[in-house]
Amino acid sequence: MKQRTFVMIKPDGVKRRLIGEIISRFEKRGFNIVAMKLIHMDRATAERLYEEHRGKSFYEELINYITSGPVVCMVIEGDEAVSVVRKMIGNTDPKDAPPGTIRGDFALSKSENVIHASDSEEKAKREMGIFFAEKELIIV
Ligand code: PPS
Repeated sequence: MKQRTFVMIKPDGVKRRLIGEIISRFEKRGFNIVAMKLIHMDRATAERLYEEHRGKSFYEELINYITSGPVVCMVIEGDEAVSVVRKMIGNTDPKDAPPGTIRGDFALSKSENVIHASDSEEKAKREMGIFFAEKELIIV
């Protein structure tokens, strides 16, 4: 089933010049990028993206970190994109992320873990809507 999912290269991934490496993995896997932008997120947008984590112990650290530098936001399309992309990025905590996954190969910690991807189709729609207008999504 063809799906779209939201992916974001986090500030540590941009700072460490991993944008090309990460995009290359998704392209080689046969996914299409249907929207992409480099932004420095403001606090209000970060709070919208991570609203489900409000009140958790790491919330402030997460918001401060995600607004600390530019991020690359994109929408990726392909067969079963939501679950396949989650498998390709690996577990949140790099010590649980298998080698060969993006986090398993590059992440340094639970916060500096290089990349975010939506964990359900419903979340993908919500997260895409925060960063992209419908008319910005390319039809491939
Ligand atoms: S939870 O509570 O299980 O839903 O949280 P989890 O899935 O582990 O993580 C949710 C996002 O918060 C980030 N995170 C952290 N940021 C800063 N500090 C700490 N300690 C921390 N722990 C988790 C984590 O990278 C997840 O970000 P996303 O962008 O959703 O992958």
